[in-house]
Amino acid sequence: MNPVQPTRREFIRTSSRFAAVSALAGIALPHVHAQGTDVLQVALIGCGGRGAGAASNALSVNTGPVKLVAMADVFAPRLTTAYDALKRKHAASVDVPEDRKFIGFDAYKGAMDCLRPGDIAIFTTPLAFRWVHFAYAIAKKLNVFMEKPLTADGPTSRRMIKLAEDATAQNLKVGVGLMSRHSRALQELHQRIGDGAIGDITLMRGYRMAGPLASAFSEPNPGPLTDLMYQVRRFHSFIWLSGGCYSDFYIHHIDHLCWMKNAWPVKAQGIGGRHYRQSPAGKPYIDQNFDSYAVEYTFADGAKLMMNGRCVTGSANMYYSHAQGTKGMAVVSKQGDCGLPSSIYSGQLPAIERRLWESVVPPDQQNPYQNEWNALTRAIRHNTPFNEVKRGVEASVATSMGRFAAHTGQEITWDQFYNSPTELAPGVDQLNLDGPSPLLPDADGRYPIPEPGLKRDREY
Ligand SMILES: NC(=O)c1ccc[n+]([C@@H]2O[C@H](COP(=O)([O-])OP(=O)(O)OC[C@H]3O[C@@H](n4cnc5c(N)ncnc54)[C@H](O)[C@@H]3O)[C@@H](O)[C@H]2O)c1
Repeated sequence: MNPVQPTRREFIRTSSRFAAVSALAGIALPHVHAQGTDVLQVALIGCGGRGAGAASNALSVNTGPVKLVAMADVFAPRLTTAYDALKRKHAASVDVPEDRKFIGFDAYKGAMDCLRPGDIAIFTTPLAFRWVHFAYAIAKKLNVFMEKPLTADGPTSRRMIKLAEDATAQNLKVGVGLMSRHSRALQELHQRIGDGAIGDITLMRGYRMAGPLASAFSEPNPGPLTDLMYQVRRFHSFIWLSGGCYSDFYIHHIDHLCWMKNAWPVKAQGIGGRHYRQSPAGKPYIDQNFDSYAVEYTFADGAKLMMNGRCVTGSANMYYSHAQGTKGMAVVSKQGDCGLPSSIYSGQLPAIERRLWESVVPPDQQNPYQNEWNALTRAIRHNTPFNEVKRGVEASVATSMGRFAAHTGQEITWDQFYNSPTELAPGVDQLNLDGPSPLLPDADGRYPIPEPGLKRDREY
């Protein structure tokens, strides 16, 4: 139930009250003067590659003016690099003076305190911090765009579902960076599959197989960073921060294939391992990832989704997704996470002579990252329902249960994973720049790794 449906203008009026109350309370908040205009203000929390990209998408929407007014990160140089790049590209829409740049694990509060209710906070840190930042945004009545994945364990998944309900109850709009859902090609394909174009889906396959990516493989911390800051810097290597490479890299295929099926899997089992635990230069890798994964998801009707992931240099590069049905098959993502075009074939091979349909997308709608921002800001300005968090959590759970199955060597059901009591990083809301990490290395700088069959009810 949602008893209060404030419009954007009401949000802006409320913001004047909020600033006055804050001043009366003697709280020194950096003040942003935009009341009475239609400018949507955004704050960027997590100023890395995707953060700069998401902020740029925010400043390029086709729905009305947007301004970047505050930024937060735990590494000052990251913030500076993103600021410089955004200022170069969007000079007129970037207004972030020094007193609205915040550094530290509580920097998110400073950045969100610069916004008025109804503005937008962008969360592009590693996933470990999503629930902490989301809870604060809801308390400040902010709309949110948050990147995938949202969670890596049961307790934070349940917490995020509860927060999603709170956000909806406050009429906040929340976008989640599962951009496949905003691909025009995949939207039309989903519609056509729903209309029976390939019959009943019986098998889906996702492949993301390439060399090691981003910070998936890590050598021992060479210093001077603390263990905590080294882990944050190389977050794809650590399960508590990112869900590891499985969650971070494979969630897009898992999400959009489940969408094509209109269902989430009921259970998963899988295999995986690490062939190479040394860098080409002979240094040990100390991260928690496998380099190969093959996970089989089962749906309630017995249909299967096979997710294949590999980070091995010199092996075949395969990066696409297919869905197979009783009447034909579909190329969902031709290349990459959701690359154009999508297509449908009679029979089980994507043979050109059997092609029944291929997507055609107008140039101004070909970028799903831009489409998702246009959709979010349109919903804010028109006050229409928009909250993608529930399905973002569900996609994260589906992904994490596959990772858990491969890491433990056990079959696991959705319910078992979702209801699991094991929280990977309790107290993540209390971290500070000089403090310890929730994950400690041994004397040689190595971290605990999955050992399927030996560690059966936890991943490491
Ligand atoms: N949708 C997509 O296609 C897509 C693509 C890339 C990344 N992502 C997602 O975006 C997120 C960020 O990925 P990235 O590639 O930009 O990584 P990145 O390392 O380039 O950026 C992350 C930034 O967050 C900062 N940070 C870490 N913890 C923080 C905290 N507690 N408070 C404030 N700042 C903090 C880091 O210092 C860094 O600058 C990840 O969840 C990733 O999965 C999504």
